[in-house]
Amino acid sequence: MTIEIHTTGCDVGAEIKGVDLAKPLTAETVAQIEDAFRAHQVLLFRGPKLEPQAFVDFSVNFGALRHHIQAAFRHPTVPEIVYNRNVDDDGNFDDAGASRGVTKNLREGWHSDSSYEDPPVKATSVHALEIPSSGGNTCFASAYRAYETLPAAFKERIKDLKAEFALGRNKRNEQTKALTAKLPKDAKDEPTVAHPVVCRHPETGRPAIFANPLITVQILDVSEAESDDILETLFDHIHAAGTSAEHWEHRWQVGDTLMWDNRGGLMHSGRKDYPLHERRIMFRCAIGASPIQAFAVAA
Ligand SMILES: [Fe+2]
Repeated sequence: MTIEIHTTGCDVGAEIKGVDLAKPLTAETVAQIEDAFRAHQVLLFRGPKLEPQAFVDFSVNFGALRHHIQAAFRHPTVPEIVYNRNVDDDGNFDDAGASRGVTKNLREGWHSDSSYEDPPVKATSVHALEIPSSGGNTCFASAYRAYETLPAAFKERIKDLKAEFALGRNKRNEQTKALTAKLPKDAKDEPTVAHPVVCRHPETGRPAIFANPLITVQILDVSEAESDDILETLFDHIHAAGTSAEHWEHRWQVGDTLMWDNRGGLMHSGRKDYPLHERRIMFRCAIGASPIQAFAVAA
């Protein structure tokens, strides 16, 4: 069976048709989806709502699933799933949950998932169970484009730099505190990790900005002022890519599944612009692991 690939016409994104996510996939189909994933960075699958185990069985085709650090949001019987949802177990509005995956300030929200870990997850899958009547789009920025638009002298200045990444301890971005509101103290005290500021995607070989405004604390081995100066420039370029005419943002429908790349080359951020009294409930899986390579070292 050959899958159908319908590109968005934007920097990133394609809808995959001809795949029933509720049924086992053949190795051939998985290989075709991996090829499309490499080329388009975000894949959309539309269909009916999936049972929790069916969503896990689909996701694990692309790598071992990792239990999310946010244990408070894990599915009660299928721990490979973590909820992105704005209600608690009793159906009451939960702002800590509502803030997961979306932000009121798009420029401050761009990131790739699990960049506070080493290695970060390869991919993220998200499946929509309930969605509000408007808003809550998930937006994507090409971090390849963001890098390409940097001046040559600036690329030279940052090519060997590394940065520190930490969940919820980024004093440059106050909204990150909400991300750790329900974490136990030992998880909040996890050591920071370092990744290159400019990475090379492990499959495409293309350079991309890896530092992100949500999780990157500072650039290592430079002054605080220089770190801030460099990071603000990088984040301007990420935001410009994520709001350019070529950017793609996904307007969710119930039953949609997205899978996006976290290996470099792509960042995402959701809009917290929907009616908060309306339920927004999604399943999420963290797929595989992929060390972040420096572009300069790997060249
Ligand atoms: Fe995310």
